[in-house]
Amino acid sequence: MQKFIINGGRRLRGELALQGSKNSSLPIMAAALLCRGECTLHSCPRLTDVYAASRILNCVGCRCSFSDNTAVINAETVDRTQVSEELMREMRSSIIFMGAMLGRAGECVVSVPGGCELGPRPIDMHLAALRKMSVEIRESGGSIICRAVCGRAKGAKISLAFPSVGATENIILCAATAEGETVINNAAREPEICDLCGFLRACGADIKGDGESRIIIRGKQQLHGCEYTIMPDRIVGATYLSMVAAAKGELILTNACVQEMEPFLSVLEQTGCSVYTSENRIYLRSGTRLRAVKERIRTMPHPGFPTDAQAVLMAALSLADGTSIFEENIFDCRYRHTDALVKMGADIEVLGKVAVVKGVSSLCGANVAATDLRGGAAMVIAGLCAEGTSVITRICHIDRGYENMEEAVRLLGGDMRRV
Ligand code: EPZ
Repeated sequence: MQKFIINGGRRLRGELALQGSKNSSLPIMAAALLCRGECTLHSCPRLTDVYAASRILNCVGCRCSFSDNTAVINAETVDRTQVSEELMREMRSSIIFMGAMLGRAGECVVSVPGGCELGPRPIDMHLAALRKMSVEIRESGGSIICRAVCGRAKGAKISLAFPSVGATENIILCAATAEGETVINNAAREPEICDLCGFLRACGADIKGDGESRIIIRGKQQLHGCEYTIMPDRIVGATYLSMVAAAKGELILTNACVQEMEPFLSVLEQTGCSVYTSENRIYLRSGTRLRAVKERIRTMPHPGFPTDAQAVLMAALSLADGTSIFEENIFDCRYRHTDALVKMGADIEVLGKVAVVKGVSSLCGANVAATDLRGGAAMVIAGLCAEGTSVITRICHIDRGYENMEEAVRLLGGDMRRV
């Protein structure tokens, strides 16, 4: 099992180009199943979750190859619609292959992806929406057997009780080639939804309204291949900005999606570090101790503060001057990283969905285990700011969403190595 060894206390300084978005790449790779022809994806991040998605594509007969940050997917030869439980369980978001396979073949057999480190991950909204699209769904022994009653899903009006990202994606993937029109009310507005729809429009899909709460999709018989560049990863951007803000120093983020990162940047600026933005660059300078954020930091669906940035900003604010309060409104169990931060000397009290972070003047290195993707990144940030050495195990969580984190940190002058 690999681990990170970090010697903290160094200021960081440098320039980083943002990797492509994990949470765009995964639904876009699933969407390639809908296309009769080759799809070339640029800026595809080299992540274990992306490789897990490619194994699912291979499992149903898709050809998928990578060269640096370019993926080429050819779905001409798709001849199976069943994904093994083992592959489905490799990552929670594999459930979006359900919508894609229904859109391609009108049927599929997948398995419940199960909970994850963030708590139970129900898919009731996914299933209810697909049933409205005339898809028969039977659950048996952990398998989900889906079949479009007339061989092809039918467009429907769907109102989501909560703007679920995954449910919105599954509906779009199924509706893109369904018969007739689908309207999604209370759709997720995350930038990754817009990226998925941008890819599908490049393949000939008829989709309007993405980025707003109502999305209208008019189904097409079939879609063609395309060449597409995946958007930058706004959460990886938030991670490195939080890292340099906490460790002190300067960062230039290039290939940044400034507008999409606004909900995070507007909170980061309240910590007192200097943030300047231009077209696709973000400049951060952090010289003095951060200030606590006075207003409660509430995680909300986009365009609210992103839940995926909660842990990494908390790590930075654990050293701030004053008390910050977080409220996690998206997931039931997204404070598992706080134990490790407390072990490193942070003063954090969790009361249900609220976490009270009293800034301390210093942290001390410790041996900790990554609990989940963003919680692990938070531990790296704390380790880089701590006095002494930290060892972080279970870094497979971090590799799910961050390309070569140790390389990026080293580029910024940090002392971090993978062993
Ligand atoms: C996506 O997860 C992201 N993952 C998550 O990023 C992100 O935190 C989340 O959206 C919220 O923005 C990918 O895009 C691969 P949801 P998803 O459906 O689709 C509940 C990361 O760190 N819910 O919007 O699973 C659910 O339990 C990951 O990159 C139901 O109850 O999120 C959760 O509490 C972590 N029933 C809430 O809604 C359903 O049918 C939001 O879930 C579906 C969801």
